[in-house]
Formats: sequence, structure tokens, C-alpha cells
Amino acid sequence: MKRHLISAADLTRDDAVLILDTAEEMARVADRPIKKLPALRGRTVVNLFFEDSTRTRISFEAAEKRLSADVINFAAKGSSVSKGESLKDTAQTLEAMGVDAVVIRHGASGAPYRLATSGWIDAAVVNAGDGTHQHPTQSLLDAFTLRRRLVGRDAGLGRDLAGRRVTIVGDILHSRVARSNVDLLHTLGAEVTLVAPPTLLPVGVGNWPCEVSYDLDAALPKSDAVMMLRVQRERMNAAFFPTEREYARRYGLDGDRMAKMPEHAIVMHPGPMVRGMEITAEVADSARCTAVEQVAGGVHTRMAVLYLLLGGNEPAVSHARTEETK
Ligand code: NCD
Repeated sequence: MKRHLISAADLTRDDAVLILDTAEEMARVADRPIKKLPALRGRTVVNLFFEDSTRTRISFEAAEKRLSADVINFAAKGSSVSKGESLKDTAQTLEAMGVDAVVIRHGASGAPYRLATSGWIDAAVVNAGDGTHQHPTQSLLDAFTLRRRLVGRDAGLGRDLAGRRVTIVGDILHSRVARSNVDLLHTLGAEVTLVAPPTLLPVGVGNWPCEVSYDLDAALPKSDAVMMLRVQRERMNAAFFPTEREYARRYGLDGDRMAKMPEHAIVMHPGPMVRGMEITAEVADSARCTAVEQVAGGVHTRMAVLYLLLGGNEPAVSHARTEETK
């Protein structure tokens, strides 16, 4: 694996399968009464969040703490960033404090890449979502959930998602989750179809390694998983569809539509969900919706990423002593 995790496109199939297998080992640790591993003891990880987040921020923090890292949380609101401080000066402040890894979420696409390649800091950089560009750990946790549900928990080790059909629905234009998933799922051998109104598809989507459709009802019966995306109003500076009702009618997932999916197929959502818009409460609360399971998998997957980036060349669990056995 590389030293940083900036984009899902940087991961080879072997990298991705190693992360997913390591995440399964981390999940087994979570079943123990004491959930902590000493793997990152003495290492410092900073969570640098310039954009709002609930799941990603909490799950990175839980992952870091379960690996025994020292954790520093930084939110741009309430920091000197509000006084006009630049990313460079913020980074140099962190460097002076001697951090080993920076987990960064930023509204500007490319900010994590800049941080990793600028020479401002020496730390490993993990992209926790940059603008409309990438959100690699989200795609890894989605693949973790997909592999568990579609391939099987134990039979899944060492396996990819070859031939599984994943349909991603909604605001593709503004979605870093969609971009990361298209890259990673393609690397893992899955077949991806994007479904969106033409106004919410990016220019050049025809060159992405996936199919594109405007017809949700036609895609549903052919899907092993349907991933619903939130309409990202905060990134919209124009009207992309006539009304919310019209959007929900054509691209929202309700109970009747869900019934068109094969029996084994799952509904995914990265959160936050806007109930009544892209997904009805009936679907969100159904046993087929994996939104909460994805969050749990997020902690295991982020533990695996941090462990592997910060020097884990050996299997995480079997070689590391747990707090229990010390
Ligand atoms: C997504 C994000 O921030 O990109 N959420 C997440 O990380 N769980 C998607 C969204 O905000 O709609």
C-alpha cells in the first residue's frame, strides 16, 4: 500500500482485499469484551475536519482509540481557520506538534492531495472526503458491507466482488461517495450502474468504468445492491430538478420500488438520509437497508486503513497482543 490514502483509484485489487480482510479481523476484536488493540500506542492521529460530519468523524475517532492512538480532534469552526488561517499554516502547526497521521475532510477537492504532496508535513494523510472528489474509506466500508452480505462473512476472506451488480442512485454530480465507489467496485470486479436525472450526472461520465441509466425501475430487478445518495443541496448553486416531489417520484426508493429488487438484494445509504426525499421511512427502517451496518463496518474498515498505513506489515490481530492478554 502507498503511504497515504487519497483516492479509491489508487488502490490495487490486492490492496483493497488486504484492507477488507484486515477489517474482518478488526471486527472480530469488536466482539470481545475489551475492544482495544495496542497497535498504535504512542502514535498521534489528528482528525482535521473543515466540513460537517457525523458518521465519518465519530467512526475515525472510535477506530483510532480502539487502536490505542493518541487522538486530537480539530474542527475548523471555532479554530483559527475562522480567523483566516490557511491550510499550510494549520498543517505546519500540526507538524510542529509531531503528528503521525492526519485524517482530513475538506470542502475543496484536492485538499488532501495538496497536504500529502506539499512537504508541509511528514504524516500519513487519509482523505475523509474532499469536495465532490473522493471519499475512499466510505467506498471501502461499503465494499466491506457488500462482501459480508453478498459473498458471506467467512467465505469472503481473500475474495472480491466479481460479477456483483451495484446500482448507485441520485446526485452523482456532487457525490464523492459515488466516485469512490465506482473506482473501488470496478477494481473489485463488480458491475456498477449509475441512475440519475441527466442534470445530476457529471460531464464525462461516459468514460467512467460503469453503465449509466435514467430509469430506476428498469435497473432495480437487475441489482444485487442499490445504493441511494442524498441530494447535496449545500453544493448546489442552481436548480437541478423541478421540485422535491418530482425528484422523489422518479428517483426515490419506496416500498413498491423496493419490491422490484431481487429477494437477496440490499439497500445501502452512506448517510445522512433525507427521509421522504431519496428514501422513504419504510425502506430506511426495513431489514434490507444496511445504513446502520455500514456505520459499524466503518469503524472496522478505518481501523484496518490506519493500521496498515501506520506500519502494519503483519496481520493485525494474531500478531498484536490485545489488552486482554497483556
Ligand atoms: C457522505 C459525505 O459526506 O460525502 N456522507 C458520509 O460520509 N457518510 C454523503 C453525504 O453527505 O450525503
